[in-house]
Amino acid sequence: MPDVRLVNVTKKFGKIVAVDNVSLHIYDKEYFSLLGPSGCGKTTLLRLIAGLIQPDEGEIYIGDRLVNDVPPEDRDIGFVFQTFALFPHMTAWNNVTYGPRVKGFDVRKAETIGHEVLEMVRLHERLDAFPNELSGGMMQRIAVARALAAGAKLLLLDEPLGQLDAKVRNELRYEIRRMTKDLELTAIHVTHDQSEAMAISDRIAVMKKGKILQVGTPQELYINPQSIFVAHFIGESNFLEGYVSNISGKTTIIELRGGIKVQAVNNKGVKGGEKVLLAIRPEIFTVEKGKKEDKNAILGRIERVTFEGTNVRYEIRLKNQDLIVIVKPSLTGEWFNMGEEVTVSFPTEKAHVFKYPDVGLKEEIAVE
Ligand SMILES: Nc1ncnc2c1ncn2[C@@H]1O[C@H](COP(=O)(O)OP(=O)(O)O)[C@@H](O)[C@H]1O
Ligand SMILES: [Mg+2]
Repeated sequence: MPDVRLVNVTKKFGKIVAVDNVSLHIYDKEYFSLLGPSGCGKTTLLRLIAGLIQPDEGEIYIGDRLVNDVPPEDRDIGFVFQTFALFPHMTAWNNVTYGPRVKGFDVRKAETIGHEVLEMVRLHERLDAFPNELSGGMMQRIAVARALAAGAKLLLLDEPLGQLDAKVRNELRYEIRRMTKDLELTAIHVTHDQSEAMAISDRIAVMKKGKILQVGTPQELYINPQSIFVAHFIGESNFLEGYVSNISGKTTIIELRGGIKVQAVNNKGVKGGEKVLLAIRPEIFTVEKGKKEDKNAILGRIERVTFEGTNVRYEIRLKNQDLIVIVKPSLTGEWFNMGEEVTVSFPTEKAHVFKYPDVGLKEEIAVE
């Protein structure tokens, strides 16, 4: 039952607009992530939902209930923070059963819940350990267990994996997702790590400077970014500068630097004559040796080759001096060498045409 709805929510701190007119619907039982660079307002948005701070404008609903004036303890939420916010003087067991006990559940019920959630986070054998005897990953599991034990159907997680090293982080993210799905919880997960958000989420809201730029499944965001920022922040994109020389039907013809003409169909509202950026993912290019005639073909030279294991990464200087990055699987397909002349081409339907940002590309995609 706990879907979460925000309607035109704004939160300011003095002159800083931390959350800027945000409207959002997070569905019941959904694993939802707020993703964006540091300082974009993710934590503020989460704290608004938790009731730790109040909005200046707008409404927040949990289920059917308008909660603007409801204190945090009456919102029925569990909270997991980035830092391991456990009681240091209590054992794992006491940390986990603290919630049910202060809620006034009878002792036996509190204990049943405690056993269940410790089983769930696979730390049952460590119930007598104190936090300083546990690893970071274990402490964060206890923190999750404690939030789950409180019995809330809405779980808020603020960079819960941020302090852990890569291997533990990758394991724990799947575990957290699995637990929320097993318990049929709604989870709202804050992170600045796009690969984490992509791996764990049903849907993601990408935030920048207090605003939500796009909401979608990981696949939707990757395949169809609606802005330059999202095309850059989710995965990787090459951006080529040019002008719209013609639009005919669904096809936009773009003149790149050096008079190179190419075509694209995903036009994000640009008009004839306008300055644009063409966004192309590194893996969608075809690379062929030598000079070839083809649609959307551009001649270039391999400037750098980086073997990355699964993939090889080529930096290619196009004949108009633009530099692009192309990624190809290592073990299937042809290899190319440094200095080699190649023709690169890309499918019309997989490139995106955006209006050139007023502030310039560098500023538009900056994350600080
Ligand atoms: N309590 C506060 N007082 C003043 N400014 C704040 C406060 N909390 C957050 N901010 C500011 O609001 C903006 C958003 O912060 P935050 O929500 O913490 O971002 P994120 O979690 O995405 O890194 C930042 O500019 C931050 O400095
Ligand atoms: Mg934060």
